[in-house]
Amino acid sequence: MSINITDLRTVRLSQDGSAVVVLDQTRLPGAEIYVSLSSAEEIWEAIYKLKVRGAPAIGIAAAYGIYVCSRQIAAGTYDGFCKEFLRIKEYLASSRPTAVNLVTALNRMEKVVAAHPMKPVPEILQLLRAESEAIRKEDAAACRKIGENCLSLLRPGMGILTHCNAGHLAVSEYGTALAPIYLGEERGYGFKVFADETRPLLQGARLTAYELLKAGVDVTLICDNMASVVMQKGWVQAVVVGCDRVAANGDTANKIGTSGVAILARHYGIPFYVLGPTSTIDRNCPDGGSIVIEERNPEEITDMWYTSRMAPEGVKIYNPAFDVTPHDLISAIITEKGIAYPPFRLEDF
Ligand code: MRU
Repeated sequence: MSINITDLRTVRLSQDGSAVVVLDQTRLPGAEIYVSLSSAEEIWEAIYKLKVRGAPAIGIAAAYGIYVCSRQIAAGTYDGFCKEFLRIKEYLASSRPTAVNLVTALNRMEKVVAAHPMKPVPEILQLLRAESEAIRKEDAAACRKIGENCLSLLRPGMGILTHCNAGHLAVSEYGTALAPIYLGEERGYGFKVFADETRPLLQGARLTAYELLKAGVDVTLICDNMASVVMQKGWVQAVVVGCDRVAANGDTANKIGTSGVAILARHYGIPFYVLGPTSTIDRNCPDGGSIVIEERNPEEITDMWYTSRMAPEGVKIYNPAFDVTPHDLISAIITEKGIAYPPFRLEDF
C-alpha cells in the first residue's frame, strides 16, 4: 500500500520545545518507534548510534538539540549562557565527524547567540527555536528543488541504482537522492529502483527498501556486490547518491561503498549523480583528502545482524563509515540551486 512518505517525521521538535523527537532508525524496518531526547547526552548518543542519521537530518537534530539544551541552562548572565552554549555545541559536534551539516547547523545556531549580546536569555531562546525551525524548513524546500532539478535528467521507465539511504529518513522531507524518485512516482515515471544493501549497517536494506516500498515505488534490493551484475545486464540507466560533505573541487564523501559504485558506473558508461543541499558543501575543504572519515566499531562488521560472531576472534578490522568519490567520476552534482557539471567550481554551487 502506498503512503504519503511525508507522514513519517524523521526528526521534529516536541510541541512544548522540551525534546527532540526522532523516528528511531535503528528499529526500522521492524518497528516505527519515536524516541524523545531531552539531554545533551541522549541527543549525542542518538546521533552517534544512528537513531537519527543522514547528513541533513543530523544537522536538523543538532539544531533542535542545542535549542532544547539551551533551555536548560540555569538563568544567569549572557556570558555564562554563552559559555555553556559553546560547551554543549562542541559536545554535540563531536558525535559524528564526516557530515558537514552537523557543524554548519550548530554554527548557524551559535551565530544567533553571538548576534544578540544585549538581549535577555528568554528572547535569545525564542530566536534559537525560530532558527532551528528555519533550518528544517529550508532543508525541506531544498530537497524538493533537488528532486525537480534531478528529475530533469531522468526519463520515464529508467532503472536507477542508489546506495545507502538518502531518502525521506535522512532529511526533513523527501530526501536528496530519493527526491527525484518520489517526484517521478507522483508523475507516473515508473522508475525501477535498485537499492544496494549497504554493508555494514544496511541502510539500503533497512531504510531505502522500507521507505520506497511503503511509498509504492518499484524497488529491488541487491547486495552491494551485485551492483556490477545489474549494470552489466543493462538494467541501470542512472545512479543517484547523497553526500555527507562536498569539497571545493567536487570530491564527495558519502557512505562507504559509494566510490566503488562510481567506478562501476564509469566502467559501464552510466551517469553517476550526486545530490545534496548546498548545506553539504564545505567551502573551506579544498579536496576529498581533507575530509575526516569516521571509523566505527569493529563489531558492526563481525557481530551485528548475526546470531553469533562471524569472524575469528583477534582478526584485524577496518571499518570506515564513508569514502570519497573523486570528482572525475561524478557526472553532475545536483543541489537546490541547480545542476553543476565538471569541472566543478565553488561558484557553480
Ligand atoms: O552513516 P549514515 O547512515 O548517516 O550515512 C548516510 C549517508 O551516507 C547518506 O548518503 C548521506 O548522509 C546523504 S543523506 C541525504
